[in-house]
Amino acid sequence: MTTPKLRAELDGIPTYKPGRPPAAEGSGDRTGPAFKLSSNENPYPPLPGVLEAATAAAAAFNRYPDLACSALTAELAGRFGVPEAHIATGTGSVGVAQQLLQSTSGPGDEVIYAWRSFEAYPIITRISGARPVQVPLDADERHDLDAMAAAVTDRTRLIFVCNPNNPTGTVVRRAELERFLDRVPSDVLVVLDEAYREFITDADVPDGIDLYRDRPNVAVLRTFSKAYGLAGLRIGFAVAHEPVAAALRKTAVPFGVSQLAQDAAVASLRAEPALLERVAGLVAERSRVVEALTGQGWTVPETQANFVWLRLGERTADFAAAAERAGTTVRPFAGEGVRITIGETEANDLLLHTAETFRKEL
Ligand SMILES: Cc1ncc(COP(=O)(O)O)c(C=O)c1O
Repeated sequence: MTTPKLRAELDGIPTYKPGRPPAAEGSGDRTGPAFKLSSNENPYPPLPGVLEAATAAAAAFNRYPDLACSALTAELAGRFGVPEAHIATGTGSVGVAQQLLQSTSGPGDEVIYAWRSFEAYPIITRISGARPVQVPLDADERHDLDAMAAAVTDRTRLIFVCNPNNPTGTVVRRAELERFLDRVPSDVLVVLDEAYREFITDADVPDGIDLYRDRPNVAVLRTFSKAYGLAGLRIGFAVAHEPVAAALRKTAVPFGVSQLAQDAAVASLRAEPALLERVAGLVAERSRVVEALTGQGWTVPETQANFVWLRLGERTADFAAAAERAGTTVRPFAGEGVRITIGETEANDLLLHTAETFRKEL
């Protein structure tokens, strides 16, 4: 039987793998609760006022949302001191990233990013028809910006710089990033993916929004999914000059961002003191986890995100299974390592116990 003709570019593209949910109650070795440390989510409930805003919006979901996300756009423009026309919203920052590819790249074009990095990059690049150019991380699990600049050809249309990098948590700092941006031709779009920006404590890591201002080929991606805790509502945004921001408005799925998401995002921005407190708590837990793992003998790349990376190679699956038996689901990348989200103190303690036992058995 013949089947509908599908685009050849889709052949072999893996479907996006979500982080595993927590194991069922009563499974594994444990009696207590299970925790999900596999998707870099915020473990806390919504910020004050956010649930109320979303619930109020839910009462009107017989209506389409505001197509232009006007209230949120105005709020973001005020907060970052950028023109409203430079803001483009979408269904999570991965949705906006896909729109950036649709806006810039197609068959015959090349898209550069570090590897390993955010696993959506190869998927959305190949969906666009462009060719992924993966530049290996250096020995410290950091972007090799010199190699990335050297990989630029006249076919390059877009470069992702994931800062901090998912899944390693490592960052690129101001001087090296500025040097890199100076080397990239001005007709190639550089996307600074700052999904974990709020967790950065190193003052030497630049804020992409400072860098974009006098660089028309730089776009910054931000999300409400991580620090702000709205992963389930699907809302993110880009800050970019025209004509990039205008292209994003053209490629957006009409009404993709729900009114719940828009109103919850505005309320979240207005709850900043509570946000900062939660972020500070997670950052303190991050330091505690990194110190404890290092004390156990692990090599932990310096992380500025809400997760840590353990390069386990062949032992990756075994570690993930041990963590799950103990009640914490982590994110394994087969044959490479595991990414562990910083969660509640109890979850982090369970994970540290698993890591300690695993290390002793090595
Ligand atoms: C680096 C990076 N960018 C973007 C995203 C996408 O987040 P969202 O689409 O929820 O905004 C993620 C999520 O894991 C990520 O790690």
